[in-house]
Amino acid sequence: MIPLPTMKTPAEIDSILISEKQIEATVRSLALKINSTYHSIPILVVGLLRGSFMFMADLVRHLDMDVELDFMTVSSYGAATTSSTEVKIIMDLGEAIAGRHVLIVEDIIDTGLTLAKVMEILKGRSPASLKICTLLNKPSRRKVNVEVDFVGIDIPDHFVCGYGLDFNQRFRNLPFIGILKK
Ligand code: IMP
Ligand code: MG
Repeated sequence: MIPLPTMKTPAEIDSILISEKQIEATVRSLALKINSTYHSIPILVVGLLRGSFMFMADLVRHLDMDVELDFMTVSSYGAATTSSTEVKIIMDLGEAIAGRHVLIVEDIIDTGLTLAKVMEILKGRSPASLKICTLLNKPSRRKVNVEVDFVGIDIPDHFVCGYGLDFNQRFRNLPFIGILKK
């Protein structure tokens, strides 16, 4: 086997907040909780693009029920390191969700505005159940209350990148989660 080079930390990243190992352990423990919540009930996992792509890919590998996948893109307007105040659907789901058990997968919950809006839209389509799983959570930044069923790691108010999360569309490919330099 050819050894892979270790990913260099880009100059824009101040420090690593969550290592690959920590991410892996967090994803496994979230999957265990999800498996024991649904038992063998089939679910539709809905990833919010683009930030959740890497987390979702890793998470679903550990789910042991019958799983289908779908994706949704919602807009985030505003400056690069602040979240949106207006949330719009850019790409809707391909699947109908009425009567189905839906699990939304998100990279990070900041103000909560994105998920509050997504929940409102999806609830209106009468799913059998609707739950949220997020890898990261910034509780100190919350503007609206959202009931989150599965939370990976609560983090302080830093702007973070990597493992799907971006700064101006960059750094999504980093295998760890780092803090952006101020
Ligand atoms: P909210 O609507 O404020 O909860 O923002 C959620 C969205 O903002 C996330 O899905 C991310 O796309 C983005 N976001 C919030 N905080 C960060 C961060 O620290 N790094 C990268 N993206 C972030
Ligand atoms: Mg996002």
